Amino acid sequence: MYPTFRWCDYFGFLFLSYCVIKNDKNVAVSKEKIVAASSHQVEEKHKFQTEYQWHYINYTWPSIQSYAIAFKRKDYVPENNAMVGIKFYKDKLYIALPRIRKGTPVTLAQMSTNSSDKTNQLLAPFPSWEMNAQKDCSTLQNVYSMEIDRRGVMWVLDGFRVNNFTKCPPKLVLLDLNKKGKLVQSYEFSSELCSTEGGFLNDIVIDESDGGYAYITENSAKDPGIIVYSRLRNRAWKIRDSSMFAELEAANFEVDGLKNTGLIPVDGIALAPQPTLRNEDRYVFYSALTGFSLYALSTKIFKNEEVCQGDSWRRAIKYVGRKQSQADGFAMDNKGNLYYGLLASYGVAKWNIHTPFSTSKVLDQNKRELIWPDSFGFDSKGNLYVLANGINKFYDPSYKLQVTTEIKFRILKHTTQTISYLYN
Ligand SMILES: *[C@@H]1O[C@H](CO)[C@@H](O)[C@H](O)[C@H]1NC(C)=O
Ligand SMILES: *[C@@H]1O[C@H](CO)[C@@H](O)[C@H](O)[C@H]1NC(C)=O
Ligand SMILES: *[C@@H]1O[C@H](CO)[C@@H](O)[C@H](O)[C@H]1NC(C)=O
Repeated sequence: MYPTFRWCDYFGFLFLSYCVIKNDKNVAVSKEKIVAASSHQVEEKHKFQTEYQWHYINYTWPSIQSYAIAFKRKDYVPENNAMVGIKFYKDKLYIALPRIRKGTPVTLAQMSTNSSDKTNQLLAPFPSWEMNAQKDCSTLQNVYSMEIDRRGVMWVLDGFRVNNFTKCPPKLVLLDLNKKGKLVQSYEFSSELCSTEGGFLNDIVIDESDGGYAYITENSAKDPGIIVYSRLRNRAWKIRDSSMFAELEAANFEVDGLKNTGLIPVDGIALAPQPTLRNEDRYVFYSALTGFSLYALSTKIFKNEEVCQGDSWRRAIKYVGRKQSQADGFAMDNKGNLYYGLLASYGVAKWNIHTPFSTSKVLDQNKRELIWPDSFGFDSKGNLYVLANGINKFYDPSYKLQVTTEIKFRILKHTTQTISYLYN
């Protein structure tokens, strides 16, 4: 059982091995009250300022004719296009646009960050229109997110398979941004890891050690878990644990007038920066979307396929603490600051992983603008961006989407003077 003294509250992250939770997640529930993050302390209002915004998404069509045809045939339905993933590299912003509803002609796009165009900037398909056309399974089908490694290779998760817009197997596609998005590698996941019918590769972090690994949240209702991909071995495996399941007590929250009653499993994922000591564990943090609990597991476990196939690794799962709210995306900087959205309270929280979780603070709260903080990205100049996209509306089939004067997507910026966890 959990000790009654609050030792782990204060030193949990300095002495993780003493604070290991037991395999029985029912026990974990009773513990959640103990290491709760502060929900009252808002450091300063409106730290995030809108940098880019859209009423609806439109593209750099090759010609007026191609636009007119797509519009007429409803291959392009402006109000149905949604952005969910953002990542910066050099002077470009890359954007994932999953085909959630019909009429989304592009699933991966880019735009220039040099442009003075801050409202309704047109997005260019990336790497090309051809790679965004669903002609066969070699092209991008339905992309949900991506991460960009230090060499400028973008690891693209083409694994949104919760609807019938594609019959192609989920895949991880590596594109070289320094070579105009040239295809470097494409890895198809087997149906045991991620189903073509119902699979959902949601978010990805990259570990560049030992030939390169990706840790990917598989957010499907059927078989949620975390998938590990080894670039060196070109192999993938998956771990499943109840810490990756939705929590019933978190299952009823409202965002912008819409009730969210679904049970959405593991979603947000972040990787700690490379520790300074070689033998020190490096942690992957994760949480179910419908959940308050934040968990961590060492990359030593993830990287060892054999260990992952057993079950003793479960003992190594750390319960970190209770978040202030349900969260979608996470972000980690190179100083060990973890940022996560607060869905029900329209905010973003910040916690330094070298301190007790009780020091986690609400960094910003803004009911008008931080509507479903979904994805984060760092530029190379010390700024963190968050995409607020009200994505719950796109998932609710009874919600009527319309092009109006209302801003639907905002990318807000906050200066952290840090950079991504990938860089030391
Ligand atoms: C979309 O962009 C094209 C230019 O690429 C433009 O011709 C068209 O009018 C735009 N459509 C809407 C609905 O904004
Ligand atoms: C953006 O600006 C940088 C430097 O100011 C320049 O090197 C680069 O070519 C510009 N990119 C575009 C797409 O205009
Ligand atoms: C996808 O298609 C299958 C059979 O073709 C059907 O059973 C299923 O309900 C469809 N799913 C969605 C999300 O439309």
